[in-house]
Amino acid sequence: MGSELGSDTHFDTVLVVDFGAQYAQLIARRVREAHVYSEIVPHSVTAAEVAERAPAGIILSGGPASVHVEGAPRLDPAIYDLGIPVLGICYGAQLMALQLGGQVANTGRGEYGKTELTVGDGGVLFGTDQPRTQTVWMSHFDSITEAPAGCTAVATTAEVPAAAFEDVERGRFGVQFHPEVVHTPHGQEILKHFLYDGCGARPTWTMTSIIETEVAQIRAQVGSGRAICGLSGGVDSAVAAALVHKAIGHQLTCVFVDTGLMRQGEGDQVVETFKRTFGIELIHVRAADRFFDRLAGVVDPEEKRKAIGELFIRIFEDASGGIEDARFLVQGTLYPDVIESGTDDAATIKSHHNVGGLPDDMDFELVEPLRWLFKDEVRKVGEELGLPEEIVWRQPFPGPGLGVRIIGEVTPDKVAMLQHADAIVREEVHKADLEREIWQAFAVLPDIRSVGVMGDERTYAHPIIIRAVTSEDAMTADWARLPYDLLEKMSSRIINEVPGVNRVAYDITSKPPGTIEWE
Ligand code: XMP
Repeated sequence: MGSELGSDTHFDTVLVVDFGAQYAQLIARRVREAHVYSEIVPHSVTAAEVAERAPAGIILSGGPASVHVEGAPRLDPAIYDLGIPVLGICYGAQLMALQLGGQVANTGRGEYGKTELTVGDGGVLFGTDQPRTQTVWMSHFDSITEAPAGCTAVATTAEVPAAAFEDVERGRFGVQFHPEVVHTPHGQEILKHFLYDGCGARPTWTMTSIIETEVAQIRAQVGSGRAICGLSGGVDSAVAAALVHKAIGHQLTCVFVDTGLMRQGEGDQVVETFKRTFGIELIHVRAADRFFDRLAGVVDPEEKRKAIGELFIRIFEDASGGIEDARFLVQGTLYPDVIESGTDDAATIKSHHNVGGLPDDMDFELVEPLRWLFKDEVRKVGEELGLPEEIVWRQPFPGPGLGVRIIGEVTPDKVAMLQHADAIVREEVHKADLEREIWQAFAVLPDIRSVGVMGDERTYAHPIIIRAVTSEDAMTADWARLPYDLLEKMSSRIINEVPGVNRVAYDITSKPPGTIEWE
């Protein structure tokens, strides 16, 4: 799907101009939560490019720089004159003040954290439904001392006279605070006022219409051709396959390479869901023995990864080679991957995110139905399509699977032991209802043994390490503060139920300096 979703569909689009840091993605997600389609564009976007997209509105994100610093990013000023409503947030609002005849002063009186905002009467951003005094999240050093020419201040704080301003006639809006963060309790309503009342955007970005649009686009792209899709057990490839199947039915064949390195029951569930429930044509390759043969004697983590990756590709190629005239390859690339790669070029996929790590030189045209979706949207689409909760809410799992959670040589016995312990960890997290708060929770099997005593006997057996982290995006992570009772439950169950284990340890390392996985 090379075309941009917003430009050739019935969805009103809001462009979020990225001025750096992580702000733009969050804003774009909030806009979509208000059922308006949004896309992120770089701050170098020109007025002509914006005009061509004809968005319903534009939001200028926050950013880490001061508008007064030399080389600080600017916006093509002609964009303000396109007649498209613009909302500046934090840095974006300061930039509007600077570029549109207001004043931004380095007063030395910045505001950080929760700040009380006093809302004036009238205006679009706060409507009539909002409390006149509310808490907002601030994070700025410079201050807007004078709103842009023609704009009226509609809210103030103790330090900032123009904490929010607007010129409804010319479609100019600005807020010094961050409406997109949860620490601004009424922030989402403020964004909605901008979207619906300021821009007149229609809230049509709903799961039903996303699915309808995707299905139509997949049909247009694939026509009567054949497509293949590698299933990894993860949510992205599962949702991509289900969507493509909805669009083209039996023209899709899925290939599932069971490496034997998946979590307990996972392989069976993939087959059960896709073959039995969805009736998808599925080639199921039981390849565990080949992986164990290949991994015999391999202990170096990188060598292990490489061995697993290469064998996976070879088996996938063999299996898909048997599907006659397959010209399309379905991939579960997500919008954050597209943003990160900094290009709209369909060929650019970070290998880390590549389903099963497929090679670049395969002669397929890519079908990427999730290319414009955030992870939370992918999950909602999956739920809407009827995928089971365990797949839709599955935690991230590394391509090389348990192979990188067994330190040292990977053997069938060790995999069985780890699968068992890992299933207990996940089951207890599920029972404690912590699944959606925790990014990943799993077990690791190190290559050591320790002494213990069970009954009257001295044991010399394996420890299991429990790893649980909270994270937003896996770039950084914090070790999860699991309740002691929960850890106790996991520990006693693992020792009692998993033969060969006599000790359980909990990993209290954050990332950095640790990584989430052990290899
Ligand atoms: P680390 O260990 O680098 O992991 O902190 C960050 C995230 O990436 C996952 N991960 C992988 N995913 N292939 C993958 O597809 C891999 O080789 C791989 N290694 C780590 C990890 O589970 C975490 O979510």
